[in-house]
Amino acid sequence: MHVLEVKDVNKSFPLPVQDGETGASRLMVLSGVSFVVEHGETVAIMGPSGGGKSTLLSLLSGLDRPDHGQILVLDKDIAAMTSTELNAFRARSIGIVFQQFQLLEHFSALENVRLPLDLRGVPAHEADRIALEKLDRVGLKSPIASLSGPDESGRVSACGDRTSIGDGSTADFCG
Ligand SMILES: Nc1ncnc2c1ncn2[C@@H]1O[C@H](COP(=O)(O)OP(=O)(O)OP(=O)(O)O)[C@@H](O)[C@H]1O
Ligand SMILES: [Mg+2]
Repeated sequence: MHVLEVKDVNKSFPLPVQDGETGASRLMVLSGVSFVVEHGETVAIMGPSGGGKSTLLSLLSGLDRPDHGQILVLDKDIAAMTSTELNAFRARSIGIVFQQFQLLEHFSALENVRLPLDLRGVPAHEADRIALEKLDRVGLKSPIASLSGPDESGRVSACGDRTSIGDGSTADFCG
């Protein structure tokens, strides 16, 4: 038995209707996602900001439902459960670590990433170079933008010379 089996999962969200538009369009976030996690495995879900990691985790933890597909936790399809069953299942069987928010919200992305370097006394031009490289590696092309949307959906920590982005405690892991 797999600990987790995700089969052909799709998830989309309604897009705001623009002036003059007819018919609701949707933002397709997950399309045909399938994978298996075995007992004792540690799995990292990686991808650019807005790529759908938190969306996927919310489906896996039963906080939201897929449009299509199956999510089997220990052979039980949580996507097919009623709300009552899902609530009981979640309370009993699923631990959720939410995406935390540890950015300085009035700082730009660049300032947030270079802060630990500044504190370590790295010269400004070198801190800028390293921070820009880290931002580029995670697909954040606009270092002056804020990393903290109103939904607090992203965080970055520059620990030593590493940058991590993740949901929950993964982003605290800088080893
Ligand atoms: N409830 C929602 N309603 C509408 N759009 C949503 C909703 N939740 C997520 N989205 C959109 O779905 C896309 C994926 O978002 P998601 O938060 O899953 O990305 P992510 O990979 O976790 O990003 P990050 O690395 O910034 O945490 C984004 O475009 C986001 O704006
Ligand atoms: Mg996220």
